[in-house]
Amino acid sequence: MVITDDGSPTIRDLGTHQQECMHHSGGAYRETQYIYGEAIRTVIQSDDHPRFLVVGLGLGYIEILTACEWLKSQKPGNCQVISFESAPYWRGQFTHWLNHQPCELAEIYQRRDAPFTQDYPQEMPKVRDWLRKNLTLEKELSLLAPWQNQIQGILFDAYSSKTSHDLWQEDFLTQLVRHYAAANCLWVTYASTGNLKRALQSCGFTLHKRAGFQGKKESTWATRS
Ligand SMILES: C[S@@+](CC[C@H](N)C(=O)[O-])C[C@H]1O[C@@H](n2cnc3c(N)ncnc32)[C@H](O)[C@@H]1O
Repeated sequence: MVITDDGSPTIRDLGTHQQECMHHSGGAYRETQYIYGEAIRTVIQSDDHPRFLVVGLGLGYIEILTACEWLKSQKPGNCQVISFESAPYWRGQFTHWLNHQPCELAEIYQRRDAPFTQDYPQEMPKVRDWLRKNLTLEKELSLLAPWQNQIQGILFDAYSSKTSHDLWQEDFLTQLVRHYAAANCLWVTYASTGNLKRALQSCGFTLHKRAGFQGKKESTWATRS
């Protein structure tokens, strides 16, 4: 476990290129809020039945944030989260946590949850129940038929292209966008690459200028409506 500058934990993944951390050292929680929070709120405001696709469950910050924001919105509709995670360990631990079962990451999860509890005191106690009903946890990222052109918010939190080379290739990204994006869709990620920009533009997305987290030059915020 690595504690980031806002006190929230991340993981240094020993199996990745240069032992990549899951989050920016400037704050795992703050980074999740900055990169994905605004996007989640935007999609929730504009859609009564939003579906989100998350790439990279990891410790589950994005899934929890989505649940908190949806519960806070008090909208009557239905919200679904489809989350991909290739590593059985992260999926297994998160599932144990969801079901209130003992797990090895319990201490990390407790530290992860502290800033959520502070910012979402009404919602956090309901998050596990909500996720058990509205989260679909999938394995390695692939093109699944049931969600074809059904997704309004794509929250792409893969490792960098040095570690997850295939996920950042233009052809793959184009396929992914073409397969999942609904007619109205918002795509966000912490990075901005030529491959991603070209893939999004070729699928009719407009790129908006957005700075990256804590001094990173650019992140990606792209819309199609
Ligand atoms: C940057 S971390 C995600 C951090 C996470 N969003 C969080 O809030 O803690 C990237 C994650 O993507 C997962 N991953 C790597 N390759 C993948 C693939 N092909 N499909 C799905 N997940 C993948 C890794 O195991 C890792 O958990």
